[in-house]
Amino acid sequence: MNVLIIGSGGREHAIAWKLAQSEKLGALFIAPGNAGTSEVGSNLNIGVSDFLGIKKAVLDHEIELVLVGPEVPLVEGIHDFFLADELLKDVTVIGPEKLAAQLEGSKEFAKEFMMRHQIPTAAYRSFTKQNVDAGFAFLEKLTPPYVLKADGLAAGKGVVILNDLQEAKDELTAMLTNEKFGKASRKVVIEEFLDGIEMSCFILTDGKGYVNLPNAKDYKRIGEGDKGLNTGGMGAISPVPFADEIYLKKIEDRVIRPTVEGLKKDGIPYKGFIFFGLIRVNNEPMVIEYNCRMGDPETEVVIPRIKSDLMDLFIATAKNDLENATIEIDDRSATTVMLVSGGYPEAYEKNKEITGIEKVNNSLVFHAGTTMNEQNLLTNGGRVIAVTSYGRDFKEALEASYKNVAKIQFEGKNFRTDIGFDL
Ligand code: AMP
Ligand code: GLY
Repeated sequence: MNVLIIGSGGREHAIAWKLAQSEKLGALFIAPGNAGTSEVGSNLNIGVSDFLGIKKAVLDHEIELVLVGPEVPLVEGIHDFFLADELLKDVTVIGPEKLAAQLEGSKEFAKEFMMRHQIPTAAYRSFTKQNVDAGFAFLEKLTPPYVLKADGLAAGKGVVILNDLQEAKDELTAMLTNEKFGKASRKVVIEEFLDGIEMSCFILTDGKGYVNLPNAKDYKRIGEGDKGLNTGGMGAISPVPFADEIYLKKIEDRVIRPTVEGLKKDGIPYKGFIFFGLIRVNNEPMVIEYNCRMGDPETEVVIPRIKSDLMDLFIATAKNDLENATIEIDDRSATTVMLVSGGYPEAYEKNKEITGIEKVNNSLVFHAGTTMNEQNLLTNGGRVIAVTSYGRDFKEALEASYKNVAKIQFEGKNFRTDIGFDL
């Protein structure tokens, strides 16, 4: 079966690397991909939102299955585009339709969904420009810190947490009245602050059954000790050591199953991954967010721990047969450390030569933002390379990752030396 992966990050390289090991895979294409994906498949120079370009590639290369990596094309309706097209409607798309992608594309939609299905989450209210005064009054009733979330997609920047009431009011004004995050902040969800430790769970579902994938914890801030600006993610660990059986069962009973059942009850079809961002409060899981796709860099530790053939799971998803699927997970821990460009997550330079990858041993190298010119491997993004390793526990895995991180060089290279510091 010929497969197309849409995206260009470490997540897409890890998925491509895994699919390339399957005997059921025919040709593998990645659009647009990166230098790493070109080692396991063929890159196509098509943007993730170029639906017509993607259509042409699917027809030209006789692609039968499309895996959508990032959220933007899902929220823009790429799956619906396939279903509405006579020539594409029988191609399997792994990734939800536009309506279900609203679980990530609209914080308010996700909140209403959780309320409807009694899925534990922070208390909230949402506001628009028309009732900004009610927003101020709501803030006055809350105790700090104040959590303000732009309703729509804001490239991971739309959540602002502030300690000062006046700053929170100013932020609300900036979001609603001045459209600080463009259309995404025409509506703002204000919610109760939850204090606890975070982790993420992932499932693959066909809307009827689902399989649990390995869980993970990522490290979003640029600085050591979780300080500084938010990034896409600087590293990840799987499994999460504090998530014991009792906690995982609570997550399954109170969050995962009610979510799949809720989608069914609401008549919302869903084929694809669901990412549950969770926080533990008084030993209970609460949902911080849903994503309608896999996480990055979580995928770089989740996928390497899946022993089963990922093609089999995708084929079961296509056939609505996931209730009968099983998944085998590697007992070892996996960790990943992300190498990023100097300056990231603010302005950074590209096209810096990357050397030393050939010296890496005992780790997997997933490319996040790289490209090739005639001879050289070059940086091509804020997040550049993820170094993933296995170990008996996360500490042993991290040791291997850090040993190999030291061998890879490029001008401005930055990374966090304290992944897992809080565990
Ligand atoms: P999100 O973009 O929804 O993942 O939010 C970004 C980050 O903000 C989360 O990973 C949490 O660390 C934090 N956050 C979001 N909502 C809350 C909340 N209600 N209470 C505390 N922290 C939160
Ligand atoms: N690492 C967080 C995300 O993929 O959203």
